[in-house]
Amino acid sequence: MQLIDGKATAAQIKQEIAAQVAQIMAAGGKQPHLAAVLVGHDGGSETYVAAKVKACAECGFKSTLIRFEADVTEAELLAQVERLNQDPDIDGFIVQLPLPRHINEQHVIEAIDYRKDVDGFHPINVGRMSIGLPCFISATPNGIMDLLSRYGIETSGKKAVVLGRSNIVGRPMATLLMQKANPGDCTVTVCHSHTKDIRKECLEADIIVAALGQPGFLKADMVKEGAVIIDVGTTRVPDASKKSGFRLCGDVDFENVAPKCSFITPVPGGVGPMTICSLMKNTLLAGTKQIYK
Ligand code: GUN
Repeated sequence: MQLIDGKATAAQIKQEIAAQVAQIMAAGGKQPHLAAVLVGHDGGSETYVAAKVKACAECGFKSTLIRFEADVTEAELLAQVERLNQDPDIDGFIVQLPLPRHINEQHVIEAIDYRKDVDGFHPINVGRMSIGLPCFISATPNGIMDLLSRYGIETSGKKAVVLGRSNIVGRPMATLLMQKANPGDCTVTVCHSHTKDIRKECLEADIIVAALGQPGFLKADMVKEGAVIIDVGTTRVPDASKKSGFRLCGDVDFENVAPKCSFITPVPGGVGPMTICSLMKNTLLAGTKQIYK
């Protein structure tokens, strides 16, 4: 069994990005600039946005954090999105999800100029990805594709099972795994809450991406010998022994599943750091206008 080290891979990619940014700036180019909009004080969102701001510094990007209280109106938030759309110094921006219930997330996502949508959530980017056109690809699935590639994991002709059908992970993950490319060319099955026999589907899989948000869901008796396991789960479970009062728990029963695998990602230190790294890659692509002119 080989552990997939997302933390080390992400550090390597951020170094590569920083080297490119240094070159761009030495040639008199513009410093890439990412903005993040954070609404309210959700603990997870605070942590993720802080990590994104820190990663910007590591990559040599400029970053701007814009905060709103949880009672911000949808109209106020949409006005901020429009200001960022119009601001020529901002290359890309994200609105951290989830948003408070009184705000329609889809309205906000669709208000973002797709050319600055470095999260890859706008329907234009989602649509372009689904037919294999250049676009911003959402960060978590893109980071997973990078891990498969950098670890030299063969995907062509393999059976992949994606657990979960969210817009952020499950759906785009399935699209990328089946794309005509390397990595890609998988035969993909997507499992969700209405799937009849998830264990049977998983037992046939060469690659499993678990993105359900159910701690320890994937058990050893659901995994075939030699499978590749990618764990996207990051549920916060109360843990008095931790300074923060919680620990991050993946969707995979790691202790029992790991001995059966060829490759497996840990939680934390697997997919998480790669997600932020993919956002940095998209920001560089936005800053250098490599996708949209
Ligand atoms: N919430 C959880 N993951 C993400 C992400 O990748 N982008 C944004 N904007 N919000 C998220």
